[in-house]
Amino acid sequence: MQLTDYIRTIKDFPKKGISYKDITPLLLNPEACELVVSEFIKGLEGKPIDKVVGIESRGFLFGMLLAKALNVGFVPIRKPGKLPSQTFSQSYDLEYGSDTIEIHKDDIKKGERIILHDDLLATGGTAAAACQLIEKLGGEIVQVNFLIELDFLEGRKHLPKANVNSLVHY
Ligand code: PRP
Ligand code: MG
Repeated sequence: MQLTDYIRTIKDFPKKGISYKDITPLLLNPEACELVVSEFIKGLEGKPIDKVVGIESRGFLFGMLLAKALNVGFVPIRKPGKLPSQTFSQSYDLEYGSDTIEIHKDDIKKGERIILHDDLLATGGTAAAACQLIEKLGGEIVQVNFLIELDFLEGRKHLPKANVNSLVHY
């Protein structure tokens, strides 16, 4: 089974010039989803993990499955104004303008061992901001995993300290 068979490219979405990697065919296939989770878990054997952090919204899909498979808690990083309790925010630059993400202050305790997950590593801005939030709470980032990495955007450069693991590269 090849994961790439379940990822389709939609040209000019959401705007002209962008080739969108659509994982909805993968989500329709339970065996492919199972394969994603088992690939993420490979290499983590014997490493203690306390929590999985997923980034809204597509990072919630496999982030929660991974947390369940590891039998640990799941922490959502959300877009601004969505988390109801006390939060820390982190802004990051986009091509035009900036964006912000937030985490509940009490969701990670100092020294907890964290896996950060998102579906896609593009420019790396989102994941780098998420790492900053986790570190601000004292979390130790064991691995940052992505279903898809767009190598040509060199997003990894923004995650110099992290152990980055991506299942599919374009
Ligand atoms: C996409 C993708 C990653 C992020 C990657 O999310 O799911 O979270 O962009 O981009 P970067 O590496 O350049 O920061 P998007 O903001 O489109 O939102 P969604 O997950 O809610 O669809
Ligand atoms: Mg996203």
